[in-house]
Amino acid sequence: MTKKVAIFISGSGSNMVALVKSMQTLQFALPTLVLSNKRDAIGLNKAKDLKIPTVCIEAEKLAGCDLNFEAAIQKELENFNIDIICLAGFMRVLSSKFVDFWQGKILNIHPSLLPKYIGLNTHERVLENHEEVTGCTVHEVTRKLDCGRILGQATVPIFPDDNVEAIKSRVLEKEHMLYPKTLEQFCLGRSDLIIM
Ligand code: GRF
Repeated sequence: MTKKVAIFISGSGSNMVALVKSMQTLQFALPTLVLSNKRDAIGLNKAKDLKIPTVCIEAEKLAGCDLNFEAAIQKELENFNIDIICLAGFMRVLSSKFVDFWQGKILNIHPSLLPKYIGLNTHERVLENHEEVTGCTVHEVTRKLDCGRILGQATVPIFPDDNVEAIKSRVLEKEHMLYPKTLEQFCLGRSDLIIM
């Protein structure tokens, strides 16, 4: 049965667009829902243009704790019969309870060659450390931030006169190739590591 995919975003949603387009073209899964935790996420409009249903659930607007936020998310995922979640620039850490429930069915893309540079500001730290290469990683999401099983990695070079913006756009370009390819393999049940 074709897997139904939800993509979680918080911002520009460029990875979401790459994922949706690849699913629409290659039909290895069905792009079913785009969920944002930010009402002003630019990606929401891009999803609408792509004719993908969208929902916005802002934690601040729900009285109480994160569990209410996640319960609201879970309800939407059940409404849409979602099988797989792709985090794509979703800037909120999900609880252990949520992550455990979705174990083996939730992926993330991170802008570094994990296990190096877990967390935020990866490109800044890559520059400070005078790295010669960096890249991006698609991994399974587990309780420990950015530490789940690595499914795919792509490298990009760092040039002597580079700055954060240049590295960011070079990495992003690779992300748009890596995430769809890795999701495709994942949906087909293939476990070989994708290297680009
Ligand atoms: C990407 O760099 C991704 O690796 C990180 O957040 C950024 C999202 O960009 N997790 P976009 O919203 O997909 O354009």
